[in-house]
Amino acid sequence: MTTPHTGSTMGTGAPAASDRNSLTVGSNGPIVLHDVHFLEQMAHFNRERVPERSPHAKGSGAFGVLKVTEDVSQFTKAALFQKGTETDLLIRFSTVAGEQGSPDTWRDVRGYSMKFYTSEGNYDLVGNNTPIFFVRDPMKFPHFIRSQKRLPDSGLRSAQMQWDFWTLNPESAHQVTYLMGQRGLPRTWRHMNGYGSHTFMWVNAGGEKFWVKYHFHTEQGMEFLSNADAAAMAGDDADFHRRDLFDAIARGEHPSWRLSVQVMPYAEAADYRFNPFDLTKTWSHADYPLIPVGTYTLNRNPENFFAEIEQAAFSPGNTVPGIGLSPDKMLLGRAFAYNDAQRNRIGTNFHQLPVNQPRDGVEVNSYMFDGHMTYHHAGNAAVYAPNSTGRPWADVTGPAEDGWETDGELLRAAYSLHSEDDDFGQPGTMVRDVWNDAQRSEAVETISGALLGGVSGEVLDRAFQYWRNVDADLGARIEKAVRAGGVPEPVDGMGDA
Ligand code: HEM
Repeated sequence: MTTPHTGSTMGTGAPAASDRNSLTVGSNGPIVLHDVHFLEQMAHFNRERVPERSPHAKGSGAFGVLKVTEDVSQFTKAALFQKGTETDLLIRFSTVAGEQGSPDTWRDVRGYSMKFYTSEGNYDLVGNNTPIFFVRDPMKFPHFIRSQKRLPDSGLRSAQMQWDFWTLNPESAHQVTYLMGQRGLPRTWRHMNGYGSHTFMWVNAGGEKFWVKYHFHTEQGMEFLSNADAAAMAGDDADFHRRDLFDAIARGEHPSWRLSVQVMPYAEAADYRFNPFDLTKTWSHADYPLIPVGTYTLNRNPENFFAEIEQAAFSPGNTVPGIGLSPDKMLLGRAFAYNDAQRNRIGTNFHQLPVNQPRDGVEVNSYMFDGHMTYHHAGNAAVYAPNSTGRPWADVTGPAEDGWETDGELLRAAYSLHSEDDDFGQPGTMVRDVWNDAQRSEAVETISGALLGGVSGEVLDRAFQYWRNVDADLGARIEKAVRAGGVPEPVDGMGDA
């Protein structure tokens, strides 16, 4: 006879009878319907998963602290960015296209989501390991993500579909150049930089406004995987990056990053040579040098992956006083998308979960009520505003502190172009002036390999032209490599293959 274990309970807290034997009629008879503990176990198991993020399903993260070492109060009054302030934070790293179980080392952009538990409420920065993005109008976003995911019939990923989208949307060239370069295969999450990517607004105590871009530089140094190592690792350990971060922190090796910003005076946005709100463009560091702010360190692993990482909810729309959004259309589109995804993915009251709640004694006095799984409530306080019961409500009028002027007329159009705006200039500069010979050769190998993975016909022709537009020499080398790899020269008069 084994020793009875009496330790577990039902969800109600009452003792559970057995976690090993269901209640049956005799040893071999049917299971009875009133074995409530058994039924609860079965039913809850069926509900263990929540919908995975679409996109950025696969990832993980850790907790840490930001220490502000510099005085940037001339640019922002945000409490978390005042010199000497320390703020707890959570970071979640991710891949974009793959599903929950997909390998960490597939070539992809990496998500870099940060939640700062500030004394003025939670501030989220939800960026990537690249400073720019594939498209500049949020209307295109769901189309972009679907083109990187799976075909409707076979459920397979498709190089043809990916390159069809990219080449039909040439503003993607800058991000695709990053993606096909070393940044597409970071060695670990610890060895990559992060970026807020968009242009945001900072407002100082005097009400003066600035445009800022965030940069997070790894103090571990940037390191990358080769195509061969990444492919091998995808088979050997699909959770390589997740494991690396968790194990490093458990060993006491706490990764850190330097936080800096580029700051553009408000009025200079109007005629900067690139449209500063176009997410496919960077700002030249010669025009707007990096201004250091502080450093942050990840020093604590989650105790429970599901509760603290899967249920973490980040949104680029979550700002605090002294920080605002900008006319970047992508950022404005995102301001809606995330909280809505989380209402669907986690539940109406996702913000009440411990990982998503503000800390530091910050009190929530929200006029959002009830819904599934309400935990925090305001008792019998007034449920409407304005009210004469003494419950505070918000009442700011006049120009928004973090607002900007608009053109007024409602229309559907591309951004207005600034003097040096085009789709291929900045990626061309990266290929010619930032990359060295070895990096250019690696890119030729990576891109031709990707094109040989099933891209054909008109899409392939467009892909060759796309790369010639980025850089004539790189484009010629890619076409040559693809032809040598098995795609024949086109014959005059022949249509699509
Ligand atoms: C209009 C454009 C975009 C839309 C509509 C959009 C929408 C979404 C949605 C719905 C999610 C899943 C959120 C969740 O379930 O919690 C997500 C995740 C994410 N997106 Fe975007 N996205 C856009 C552009 C971008 C851009 C430009 C970046 C980076 C610069 C980005 C970075 C991320 C990251 C890092 C995550 C994962 C968040 C996490 O770790 O929980 N997205 N996006």
